Amino acid sequence: MASAATTDQDQQTIHVGRAAGPCAMVLFGASGDLTKRKLVPALFNLVKASLLPKNFAILGIAVDQLGEEQFRSQVTSFLPAEDRGSEAWNWFQQRLYYHCGDFGDPATYSSIHDRLSQIDQQHNTEGNYLFYLATSPKFFAYDSARALNRQIKVVLGEDQIYRIDHYLGKETVQNILVFRFDNAIFEPIWNRRYIDHVQITNAETVGVEQRGGYFDTAGTLRDMVPNHVMQLLTLTAMESPVSFHADAVRSEQAKVLNAMQPLASEDVLQYSVRGQYGEGLMGEERVPGYRTEPGVSPESRTETFVALKLNIDNWRWVGVPFYLRTGKRLTKRHTEITIQFKKTPFVLFRNAPVQKHSNQLVIQIQPVEGISLSFGAKIPGPILRVGSVDMSFEYSKYFGADAYTGYEVLLYDCMIGDATLFQRADMVEAGWNVVDPVLDVWKALPPRKFPNYASGTWGPKESDELLKRDEREWRTIE
Ligand code: BG6
Repeated sequence: MASAATTDQDQQTIHVGRAAGPCAMVLFGASGDLTKRKLVPALFNLVKASLLPKNFAILGIAVDQLGEEQFRSQVTSFLPAEDRGSEAWNWFQQRLYYHCGDFGDPATYSSIHDRLSQIDQQHNTEGNYLFYLATSPKFFAYDSARALNRQIKVVLGEDQIYRIDHYLGKETVQNILVFRFDNAIFEPIWNRRYIDHVQITNAETVGVEQRGGYFDTAGTLRDMVPNHVMQLLTLTAMESPVSFHADAVRSEQAKVLNAMQPLASEDVLQYSVRGQYGEGLMGEERVPGYRTEPGVSPESRTETFVALKLNIDNWRWVGVPFYLRTGKRLTKRHTEITIQFKKTPFVLFRNAPVQKHSNQLVIQIQPVEGISLSFGAKIPGPILRVGSVDMSFEYSKYFGADAYTGYEVLLYDCMIGDATLFQRADMVEAGWNVVDPVLDVWKALPPRKFPNYASGTWGPKESDELLKRDEREWRTIE
């Protein structure tokens, strides 16, 4: 996304509900999947929360031959039935415009320019434009993030660029900052002295769905790690920023990425695991293997699972491994961060029957959103026995079900010029520096035994072995 909004110095206090300033949003990919599933519902939630300005309009751009009225009914169909025809809907649909155009054709852009001038006059949007690129990766024809950044910066300043990573729109991801830096009790033990290691699991049950054509050229490492997984990692590992200003937060995240030593070629095979799903059972349903998915080559060597062991070389984390795993067609949809604390220095209850237990803090990102802390407790009874108990908090129980898509905060923040939840160019490049050596080695040594895990399992056995070698194991996810 790109916005011409100016940065507000008073960002710490503005999330409490003032409407954004005048703005015309140009939505490239207006008939696409992202627009349908996330952007329209999110924009409409902003209307209902009175966070969009009165002087607002949307110009949708796509290749489909649609008239304005057809576009309005298409957008209506993207909303829940109960919202259609409401007063809010009436307000919203009066601000919808459409232009049919090919993204590769320069004439499209001169027409957009003309349409925007009209919209500006009609809605007093004051020449403030937000361009949202909800388009396929094929329109970003660059070999590297660095080349893409260079190209974008020819026309826009860094403060006008809002690189979306939808993980930063998730409540629990943002809550990592609040949890760590608005509570005094965790920070003193959040370091190598007390923490044994950190695990990040990002498991999906879906396969590649209808995106085989794209995915087969990308693979899980590119698709998930430099962006989503690195966001989870940097928020977990960063130092306290000096303020909640965008650059203060992002600079701390960037420092973590820069402190991660990229794996040397000879280490890649030892500390990285790749996998590809074969057929298998997802619950009761038998599902096909990756190589028979639509758009995927029958000999594909693209990975659908990745596990990595990474180290952060700084005072806080040296010697504390971060184990990451992410994959498709795994047993359960589940994203979490586990902070595994060290054992007690002295085993006082060595003669008592002790259930296996340890001190773990689990930050659950999805689908359940919450935090739990496990510790040992005496099991009631005349004999001393020690068991494991959990203290847990679930978002939905405290705050009720979340009706938001996660894109609301990102769209709103872009409109008000708050870039805290967006990736800065150097962060993107530093994230790629971590994964590039792995990609290089994997390319030079293609996998010999794909598929190597059945759908519905937790990935290849090498993923368990990665931790077993260090006498550790992945937390059991039930
Ligand atoms: C996207 C990836 O960025 O994130 C997809 O391209 C992946 O392959 C998705 O499925 C996961 O997002 P979420 O929010 O479902 O965890």
